[in-house]
Amino acid sequence: MATLLCIGAGHVGGPTMAVIAQKCPEHRVVVADINAEKITAWQSDRLPIYEPGLQEMVFSCRDKNLFFSSEVERHIAEADIIFVSVNTPMKTFGQGAGKAADLQYWEKTARQILQHSHAPKIVVEKSTLPVRTAEAMERILHSQDRSPQFDVVSNPEFLSEGTAIRDMENPDRVLIGARDTPSGRKAKQAIVDLYAHWVPRERILTTSLWSSELSKLVANAFLAQRISSINSISALCEKTEADIQEIALAIGMDTRIGPRFLNASVGFGGSCFKKDILNLVYLCEYYHLSEVAEYWEQVVRMNEYQQARFLSRILSSLFNTVAGKRIALFGAAFKANTSDTRESPALQVCRALLEERADVVVTDPHALDNVRVDLGEDARRVTMEPDPYRAAMNAHAIALLTEWTLFSELDYEAIYHSMAKPAFFFDGRNILDHRKLFQIGFNVHAIGKPSLIHP
Ligand code: UDX
Ligand code: UDX
Repeated sequence: MATLLCIGAGHVGGPTMAVIAQKCPEHRVVVADINAEKITAWQSDRLPIYEPGLQEMVFSCRDKNLFFSSEVERHIAEADIIFVSVNTPMKTFGQGAGKAADLQYWEKTARQILQHSHAPKIVVEKSTLPVRTAEAMERILHSQDRSPQFDVVSNPEFLSEGTAIRDMENPDRVLIGARDTPSGRKAKQAIVDLYAHWVPRERILTTSLWSSELSKLVANAFLAQRISSINSISALCEKTEADIQEIALAIGMDTRIGPRFLNASVGFGGSCFKKDILNLVYLCEYYHLSEVAEYWEQVVRMNEYQQARFLSRILSSLFNTVAGKRIALFGAAFKANTSDTRESPALQVCRALLEERADVVVTDPHALDNVRVDLGEDARRVTMEPDPYRAAMNAHAIALLTEWTLFSELDYEAIYHSMAKPAFFFDGRNILDHRKLFQIGFNVHAIGKPSLIHP
């Protein structure tokens, strides 16, 4: 039996360790966080994050072999393997502000591990980090004469919010990078053995530390690039009467391209894509690879363009003014099946509409608490309405921004009749039947499709 500790009980640490605890019942798993309030929530009936299947998973092993604690230091001393999944946000100050990763929590955690360790340990990088961070980590961990042996292993997470549990239980691959030294190989094997409890061996990929660290950034950059690519073509479709969904289908059937991540949208959001691409851009600039940096930066620029375009379409359709008009935003989460609103395009649209002095109503089945926090002062100017029917009442327009299934099951006939006329529908996710909405009476504007406008 080994004792596993995860420092950072966030969107990554919580679900990851819950699955490890359930799949490896002989190990003791502790998830620790400096935020005591968050830990209390993990210990309660109302977990701090919404993720399908998470609650069942946590409830099945909590207080058996899965424990949540705010006593980070005590658990460091006891642990054999320490996963680190503290946040690595974008730097907002000094050199690299707005691009580089802010590694202050990471370094603080490394020093905390050093201070409270009296026996050899494996330290696993879970957070997304710039390539070669492990080197800095090793130097800190071995900075004292009497440091015990530490082996740093990179094991990036590829889980996607909303399907985090499914992704962990059935991953496309698990990536483990370590030093090619006797103790590095031993550490790598210990992490392989952990995942081998439920992941077929051929899907556990082992690489060098640096390839593993960089693969995480590159995977996210490639995924985001597909979305920016399809979104760029959606702009062309809107000018030429081509249909972006037909194009996605046509190109996605080419097995070399494949069908996934080709949904044109109001833009990608989430805590990772923008941050990780800009981190990659910063790394390229650091190594004087300006052409490579510019290439990837364009993926983020295209995403900003897509959000700005969506807002312009709302404005121009509503006769160039939304001041005082009630606009209902359907969805606030950055994608369906999560309460997470970090970098959500919905919030960008919301802020821009507030700038235009619109009367904004937001409805979302799980994310309204986070909207209140994220909007700060602006939250007072927005109506939060859990019921979409009430949100749409007397509105001039609905903008659908998150692809919750719930929104495709509403009675739009009834909604249309409760709205101000002419009534507009902007589908930022292309999940509805636009022809049907048009027949009901809506003027319909969808991403990458010809507008359907009543004379
Ligand atoms: C984070 C990073 O954003 C991402 O880059 C990385 O890949 C994984 O970690 P996430 O789990 O979504 O992702 O972040 P968040 O939900 O903010 O959780 C991080 C947790 O670490 C927070 O609960 C925070 O309180 C905790 N933390 C932070 C510590 O316990 N100690 C610290 O020193 C700093
Ligand atoms: C992503 C990666 O997928 C995951 O592997 C990594 O570990 C963390 O970052 P996540 O941000 O949780 O996961 O969600 P993801 O499903 O990738 O979606 C990101 C954004 O892209 C969302 O706003 C989503 O709505 C948008 N998206 C996704 C599209 O606009 N079109 C698509 O076709 C797919």
